[in-house]
Amino acid sequence: MSTRTLIRGGLVVTAADELHADVLIEDGRIAALAAHGSDAAARWTADRTIDATDRYVIPGGVDAHTHMELPFGGTSASDTFETGTRAAAWGGTTTIVDFAVQSVGRSLREGLDTWYAKADGKCAVDYGFHMILSDVNEHTLGEMDKLVEEGISSFKLFMAYPGVFYSDDGRILRAMQRSAHNGGLIMMHAENGIAIDVLVEQALARGETDPRYHGEVRKVLLEAEATHRAIQLARVAGAPLYVVHVSAEEAVRELAAARDMGLNVFGETCPQYLFLSTDNLAEPGFEGAKYVCSTPLRPREHQEALWRGLRTNDLQVVSTDHCPFCFKGQKELGRGDFSKIPNGLPGVENRMDLLHQAVVEGRISRRRWIEIACATPARMFGLYPQKGTIAPGADADVVIYDPHVRQTLSAATHHMNVDYSAYEGKTVTGQVETVLSRGEPVIEQRTFTGRAGHGVFTPRSTCQYLN
Ligand code: URP
Ligand code: ZN
Ligand code: ZN
Ligand code: ZN
Repeated sequence: MSTRTLIRGGLVVTAADELHADVLIEDGRIAALAAHGSDAAARWTADRTIDATDRYVIPGGVDAHTHMELPFGGTSASDTFETGTRAAAWGGTTTIVDFAVQSVGRSLREGLDTWYAKADGKCAVDYGFHMILSDVNEHTLGEMDKLVEEGISSFKLFMAYPGVFYSDDGRILRAMQRSAHNGGLIMMHAENGIAIDVLVEQALARGETDPRYHGEVRKVLLEAEATHRAIQLARVAGAPLYVVHVSAEEAVRELAAARDMGLNVFGETCPQYLFLSTDNLAEPGFEGAKYVCSTPLRPREHQEALWRGLRTNDLQVVSTDHCPFCFKGQKELGRGDFSKIPNGLPGVENRMDLLHQAVVEGRISRRRWIEIACATPARMFGLYPQKGTIAPGADADVVIYDPHVRQTLSAATHHMNVDYSAYEGKTVTGQVETVLSRGEPVIEQRTFTGRAGHGVFTPRSTCQYLN
C-alpha cells in the first residue's frame, strides 16, 4: 500500500537552495518538489497533508559523532540507543553515526557485532557505525577492507588515552596506508596523550584535583601538535583525514594550512566548543565536572576562530560527540581527582537548535546551517543523497522547523537520559515541530509518535567529499 504525504507551504531549506515549495513524499522517499502555488503542486493529492506555513522544511539532521552506551571511564554513557535516538529525533536529527569499539586483543568483527546487537531493534531513527581501532595489527588491517565493503567506511584512531584507545604513530601510519588503499576515512582524536598523561600526574601531585585542571593539562599546544602530526602522517600515507572535535584556534590553523595546500583534510567541531568555555569548567563546587570532555573546553577567545572556520570551510561539520554521563554517580567518580571524571557531554538533542541560534545571531546562513549539520556530514560519511538533503529519491527524513518560537534548554524538559543539561537556562529561538523518518512521523506537533526499532542500520559508501 503506497502512502503519500504532502508538506505544503513551508520554506524548503537545503545546503544548496531556499524555496517556497510543496514536498510530495511517497513510500518513504521524496517523490517531488514543486513551487508552492504552482499548478503541479495544486494537483497533488495525499493521504496526509502537513501545513508548514511560516515554517522551515529542512532535511533531518545527520549527527556523525555519538557514543550511545559507550563503556568509558569505568562506567557507561547514560543514553542507550533507544533513549539517545529518541532524543535525537526530538532535536531534529534523523541519522546518527555512532562508534563501534574494538577492544584491545579482540577483532573488529567482534566489536562491530557487539554494537550491531546493542542497536538492533532499539533505534527511533536510522543509524550507522564508525569503527574505533584500538589495536592496529596485520589481522585488523585486513578486517578494515571487509568493513568498508559492509558499509562501515570510517575508522577512529586516538593519539590520546594511552592504555585505552591510544595508537602510536607507527600504528596510525599503517591504518592510514590501509585506508588510502581501501577508501576508508580515518577520523583522528588529535591530542598528544603521552604528554598529557605526564601533565596529569604532575598536576595531581601538586594537589590540583578540581575539574578545571582537566582543561589546563590538556593544552592547546598538545591539540595543535597532534593535529599537525596527524596531517603529516596522512600526507605520507596519501590518505584523507578527518579530525574530530576540534576545539582550539591553533588546531584550526593547522587544518587551514593543510587545506590551503589542497589536501583532503577535514575538521569537525561540536556545539560545546562553540557555546561553552573554560568558564564552565571553573564553575564552583564540583559543577565543572559537567563540562569535562576531551578535547577540553577552551578559553572563550577560541570560539571566534571556530565560527570563522565554519564560515570559511576550514571546518566542515558540526557533530555533537554526544557521550552523556549523569552528574550523580558518574561525573562524581572524579571527585578529588579530575582524571577520573568520565569524559563526555550530552548534546544530541540540542545541536540543530544551537546552530539555528547561530543563524538567528547572523554567524552563519540558513543554508550553511543545513550544510554543516546535514548535507556535509552525509557526504563526508557516504550517506548522500539518501540522507542530508530534500531531493527526489532521497529518504523522506524531514523536519518541520518553527524558526520563531523561543525555548529555554533545560534538563527538566530535555529527553536525553542524563540528569543535567550543559546548556541549562540558555534561551534559543527556533524549535523542531514535526519530524519524519523515511516518511513516518516520529515527532508530531511536539509529541513523540515514533517507536524503538523503526530506525535501521544504514550502510555507507566511502567519503563523497574528496577533492
Ligand atoms: O570526551 C569525550 N569526547 N568523550 C567521548 C570519547 C571521545 O574521545 O570522543
Ligand atoms: Zn575523541
Ligand atoms: Zn567522541
Ligand atoms: Zn512561527
